[in-house]
Amino acid sequence: MKSEFLTSAAGRQDWPESTRPEIVVVGRSNVGKSSFINAFTNRKKLAYVGNTPGKTRLINFFTIDDQWTLVDVPGYGYAKMSKAQLEKLGKMMDDYFLHRENIAGVIQLVDGRHEPTADDVDMVQFFREMGYPVIIGATKIDKVPKTKRIAALKKISQKLQLPLASVCPISSVEKTGFDKVQSLIDEKRQH
Ligand code: GTP
Ligand code: MG
Repeated sequence: MKSEFLTSAAGRQDWPESTRPEIVVVGRSNVGKSSFINAFTNRKKLAYVGNTPGKTRLINFFTIDDQWTLVDVPGYGYAKMSKAQLEKLGKMMDDYFLHRENIAGVIQLVDGRHEPTADDVDMVQFFREMGYPVIIGATKIDKVPKTKRIAALKKISQKLQLPLASVCPISSVEKTGFDKVQSLIDEKRQH
């Protein structure tokens, strides 16, 4: 897979002019969005990974195989941000999700170790209303004992009201689960 950084955007004036389909990686802060992008593209430092949450502040666009665009966005639910910062981020994200015509699908990441949060449920509901196809990635699955994984995935699927087939267990540390995500992406971006 060929991957390259395209651009970062603080607002619509910076959105790339490309007409390529965009697949957006969303999820609460620290869930593993940037790690996912690096592991998925097999690059060590394509997206910035931090030890403290709230590291990604801009919308980052990466071109994949000269064909489509993977998008890294700031996480939600990060409490240690000022009200002004939160408002600014919220506006930037709303504008993107409501008005960006390239969006072909969303990879919603949730923490594989826990039940989805109320915010996770709201986000999925919002994407459903927008008509965006949603793929769920259950991250950090390496931290869930193997015997408990199926039950964890079922719970996530139930809580988010999405078919189990669209819930992919992934580990960016062990680099597992990407084939399934890849085939679901290929399905979505063809539409
Ligand atoms: P923000 O940009 O702050 O919204 O966070 P993010 O969602 O981009 O998370 P990031 O990729 O920066 O990862 C957060 C932390 O989780 C880092 O310490 C990662 O090393 C760790 N992490 C991410 N994915 C995995 C995984 O699959 N397994 C394990 N064990 N740790 C992970
Ligand atoms: Mg990030």
